[in-house]
Amino acid sequence: MEFSIKSLAPEKQPASCVAVGVFDGGKLSHAARAVDAVSRGYLRKLVRNGDFQGALGCTLTLFSVPGVAAARVLLVGLGKEEGGGGIGEREYLAATRAMLKAIADTGTKDALLCLAEIAVGEHDTPWKVRQVPILAHETAYRFDQLRSKKDKSRTLLAKIVVNVARVSLTPRTGEALRQGDAIGQGICLTRTLGNLPGNICTPSYLAEQARALAKTHKLGVKILEQKDMEKLGMGSLLSVSKGSRQPPKLIVLEYHGGAAKQKPVVLVGKGITFDSGGISLKPGPEMDEMKFDMCGAASVFGTLKACALMGLRHNVVGVIPTCENMPDGAASKPGDIVTSMSGQTIEILNTDAEGRLILCDALTYAERFNPSAVIDIATLTGACVIALGHVVSGLFSNKAALAEDLLAAGRASFDRAWQLPLHEDYQEQLKSNFADMANIGGRPAGSITAACFLARFTKKYDWAHLDIAGTAWKSGKEKGATGRPVPLLTHFLMQRAGRSK
Ligand code: BES
Ligand code: MN
Ligand code: ZN
Repeated sequence: MEFSIKSLAPEKQPASCVAVGVFDGGKLSHAARAVDAVSRGYLRKLVRNGDFQGALGCTLTLFSVPGVAAARVLLVGLGKEEGGGGIGEREYLAATRAMLKAIADTGTKDALLCLAEIAVGEHDTPWKVRQVPILAHETAYRFDQLRSKKDKSRTLLAKIVVNVARVSLTPRTGEALRQGDAIGQGICLTRTLGNLPGNICTPSYLAEQARALAKTHKLGVKILEQKDMEKLGMGSLLSVSKGSRQPPKLIVLEYHGGAAKQKPVVLVGKGITFDSGGISLKPGPEMDEMKFDMCGAASVFGTLKACALMGLRHNVVGVIPTCENMPDGAASKPGDIVTSMSGQTIEILNTDAEGRLILCDALTYAERFNPSAVIDIATLTGACVIALGHVVSGLFSNKAALAEDLLAAGRASFDRAWQLPLHEDYQEQLKSNFADMANIGGRPAGSITAACFLARFTKKYDWAHLDIAGTAWKSGKEKGATGRPVPLLTHFLMQRAGRSK
């Protein structure tokens, strides 16, 4: 897909499709009015006849509209107009998504999109423009590499022109378009890695993908093998992989976009390529979804790819502990006590609370990068799905300013997070009679006690934890990885890079 920004008269462009917005109730947007004028009231007549009312997300494709150079005119319902004459961000995203989907369903190869001219809440033009390639990649995304017959019926939308007012043709707007393209591609990578099944996407496969990503984008890459981790004393991480035939890996990717002396942001992603629960075996129904237990890792891959593609001016390190959690004669057992790289001992009361066991050693390892902040991303607890559902990710942090930046990035990218507390009082629940701590804290506040466990390994730096158990993938008919929280993470890094200029 190729993206560009222009300021054109929509009615004069010989594109295969020009998309214009109509507000709920039939009021025409600026671009729609231009089309209406050359076609002598064609759109107004349609609206008057009740053929298109502008309800949010509704679309209507018109062919050979009189006086219009484009082969098709796509009307896009914008929903209710707000006081100031624009629409809300939720409406803008829904309308843009509907527009791109409608275009993908026709034979359109190139399109001129005129929704970015519409006022959207407090957002500026770069924000509106950035969303277009993100959503274009999202709607074009298919996961069909494992089907014997591919769907060839669709013509791919190859060229997208985002139309903006002439005053908005600034370098910042152009940069936003490239950022959106980069973020969109990062999201696609995250989704694909997430969607790949556990028999293909093994720890070794992820290590290979890391090498490939590093080669394409000139990243530093290092893969620690089991023996390296043994030398480092990563007894907690290794206790999880013990029951698996697949060797564990610790993947390190380094993106150097900032000054050599700039402290990096370290992203640590949970990479359990299949979580059976281990000896504390999970129940059968929906267990297939535990192939998604590496979505945190996948989001680190996707974020680094996006950083590299957009040429982000900041240093970012990805640390990915990856292994399988399987039952076996050699697997860890409830009651086993292991020693983490930090020296702290852990009583494994439930082998299904394995995410924190691999993360804690990766978090200790992260110290060596002298980070300005460490953010871990993990499908960590079912309790987070109960608390927050599938709308927001759970956020925890030992630094208020870092939490605020992440929450703001979530709002700006519509990939929202919600902060939960880390009060000392919860630490009580992790007490063990035999070791420094237990790996579970009982049923109450399960996401918080999981985060409290991690907090014991992150005292040396500013740290935040994103529990993406409810947001990383969808279940049911639409089963598949979402690519979250790549939008949040990339926005966070872009903001930080902007500030450190
Ligand atoms: N990967 C799971 C968390 C999970 C479960 C994410 C369901 C999304 C949907 C994690 O490793 C796990 O099994 N957590 C346990 C912790 C418990 C044993 C304290 C859980 O949430 O049940
Ligand atoms: Mn588990
Ligand atoms: Zn897990």
